[in-house]
Amino acid sequence: MYTQAMDTQGREPEDRNVRSLEEAHLQQRFDATIDDGGFIEAKDWMPQNYRRTLIRQISQHAHSEIVGMLPEGNWISRAPTLKRKAILLAKVQDEGGHGLYLYAAAETLGTSRDELLAALHSGKAKYSSIFNYPTLTWADVGVIGWLVDGAAIMNQVPICRCSYAPYARAMIRICREESFHQRQGFDSLLVMMEKGTDAQRAMVQDAVDRWWWPCLMMFGPPDDQSPNSAQGMRWGIKRVSNDELRQKFVDATVEQAKVLGVTLPDPGLKWNEARGHWDFGAIDWDEFWNVVNGNGPCNRERLAARVKAWDEGAWVREAALAHAAKQREREPQAA
Ligand SMILES: [Fe+2]
Ligand SMILES: [Fe+2]
Repeated sequence: MYTQAMDTQGREPEDRNVRSLEEAHLQQRFDATIDDGGFIEAKDWMPQNYRRTLIRQISQHAHSEIVGMLPEGNWISRAPTLKRKAILLAKVQDEGGHGLYLYAAAETLGTSRDELLAALHSGKAKYSSIFNYPTLTWADVGVIGWLVDGAAIMNQVPICRCSYAPYARAMIRICREESFHQRQGFDSLLVMMEKGTDAQRAMVQDAVDRWWWPCLMMFGPPDDQSPNSAQGMRWGIKRVSNDELRQKFVDATVEQAKVLGVTLPDPGLKWNEARGHWDFGAIDWDEFWNVVNGNGPCNRERLAARVKAWDEGAWVREAALAHAAKQREREPQAA
């Protein structure tokens, strides 16, 4: 699914890596490429802080995809029909694939997957705060598709033009799949709202009430409290600001909510003719930081599930390595 303005960990130190005349030229060339809206490839020279920022952002994004499999995976065995089960299985598998593309993109920057995963498992690396909320009913699965994948698409479409080409290429593939995710969620909710019972409609509304505000938080802190945003924009990593993306999401979602027949839980939602946008109420940023810092409803459970999967998968990794070694041994004989 998901990046958010995930770039929520402190400022980078000043970049002091320009040491020689040659490096000054390389820096100039890099700046010119960025200014022209060009792309940087893995083998191109890049400033250390650009590299570090990308490793952090891409790995946080990869972790979000992988951890994002957990809340929905929880419902695979309890999906109400075979059709919904097949769709959900495919979606959760897609998210795993997104994680793998993104780990591969991060590895092109000179880091290893083991290092990235160790940072996740130790709690040092972040992932999107949205996955620290529980999925209490089947309607939550639909709402995750509609709102969480919907917010992820808003965030991710601009990253298809990110200046770091391997990240941009991964995002193009990912965004195609995300739009299916969003539509299947909306479709599942529409069926419950149009053909369901009163209890099912109430269940959908309850899920919308619980997920709406955390979804708005997915776009990250307001622009004036987002320390890394300006540099990210300068480098062409970030193309649209957190507040602009959040507004676009609200504007699009209000209309979709009308079609569904659900109420968004914000008495402050009001069309503003002068701005040409929907106004909305204040976001509880204390809640956001609380969840980012490890104290959301499911942080411990999510991390424990990932660590357990890693530990219990050790034999698979060992077997795969042993198999690869055997293949290599046999190759010269075959030749
Ligand atoms: Fe995804
Ligand atoms: Fe998704």
